[in-house]
Amino acid sequence: MSSQTLSLFCLLLFLLLTLSPSHAQLGVGYYHNSCPDVESIVKSAVKQKLEQTLVTAPATLRLFFHDCFVRGCDASVMLASSWKKSAEKDNPDNLSLAGDGFDTVMKAKAAVDSVPQCRNKVSCADILALATRDVIALTGGPSYAVELGRLDGRISTRASVRHHLPHPDFKLGKLKAMFASHGLTLTDLVALSGAHTIGFSHCSRFSKRIYEFKSKSRIDPTLNLPYARQLQQMCPENVDPRMAIEMDPSTPRIFDNMYYINLQQGKGLFTSDQSLFTNARSRNIVNLFASNNTAFEEAFVAAITKLGRIGVKTGKQGEIRNDCFVLNKIS
Ligand code: HEM
Ligand SMILES: *[C@@H]1O[C@H](CO)[C@@H](O)[C@H](O)[C@H]1NC(C)=O
Ligand SMILES: *[C@@H]1O[C@H](CO)[C@@H](O)[C@H](O)[C@H]1NC(C)=O
Repeated sequence: MSSQTLSLFCLLLFLLLTLSPSHAQLGVGYYHNSCPDVESIVKSAVKQKLEQTLVTAPATLRLFFHDCFVRGCDASVMLASSWKKSAEKDNPDNLSLAGDGFDTVMKAKAAVDSVPQCRNKVSCADILALATRDVIALTGGPSYAVELGRLDGRISTRASVRHHLPHPDFKLGKLKAMFASHGLTLTDLVALSGAHTIGFSHCSRFSKRIYEFKSKSRIDPTLNLPYARQLQQMCPENVDPRMAIEMDPSTPRIFDNMYYINLQQGKGLFTSDQSLFTNARSRNIVNLFASNNTAFEEAFVAAITKLGRIGVKTGKQGEIRNDCFVLNKIS
């Protein structure tokens, strides 16, 4: 190859890589020059927040999932949420515990922006992605390199975020289709559902399974019976709607593979959880993750990395918000 053809080839390759609409722009070293210490700054802010409230971990993790499933990982969830307009009566998440997830991103963003070199250089979407990795690692889960370079979206819908999110009553078929629409496989679905190894759920999200199931006992027969009775005690009928319980009854504060062992015992809290074991198509994956924590961690890291690539905004599609809750003013 002549040097001329070679440079032409390189130019074409360069154009292909930079113009490609995929996630090609994401990279682990994205802020290497603009804010070299971003990872340690975010991590120490997250650690501090976690020491104040344990809910920091599940709330941040769930916020990342919701962000990525609604318009892609672009921090649009922070604009579209009921955070500041909390009286949205139809939104069952108004009572959710996610407030601490928003607060985590806000605090980490403030810490990043307090470093002059980094001021308004790091997107809220990337801070959320980093904070998510940190809460997982800080609660005993795997740590992993986070791809960076997402911009914050400029579109904020007031419409309910819920339509884009899987419902706890969904069974495997629907879950699989919803995840597939984002390029996520059955293994990704099973691995990401393992996030329910930490965190809380409000009683209303599963009360049908313990009080209104169409059977004589009114209890979903795929539920472990002693566990169902325990749930009835913790969540009596007409319970205070703010009441929330731990989703992993065994090791609720540790990010581990206990979720899958629970599923084997009929202790999946939601229909969506238990159907991963009830359905033969995914049962072998559940069994693998239950027996091998390393296999779970590897699959989880691969899946959350793919999750982090959904709908990434670059170039003119986005901006780096000064305030994660508010769009920048167009000057
Ligand atoms: C597979 C479909 C999924 C369904 C149907 C689902 C549904 C739910 C529901 C109903 C809650 C309880 C919310 C509340 O009552 O406040 C919850 C909590 C949670 N979800 Fe999921 N989820 C799914 C997948 C995921 C994924 C993929 C992740 C993250 C990777 C995730 C992370 C969490 C976390 C950490 C919590 C606890 C939140 C807290 O304690 O504040 N979920 N989920
Ligand atoms: C949720 O909505 C109810 C009534 O609509 C309101 O009283 C309550 O303060 C809201 N909760 C949060 C956390 O915003
Ligand atoms: C567990 O999974 C890891 C990663 O896939 C694999 O290397 C290891 O051999 C497995 N361990 C057992 C005991 O099967």
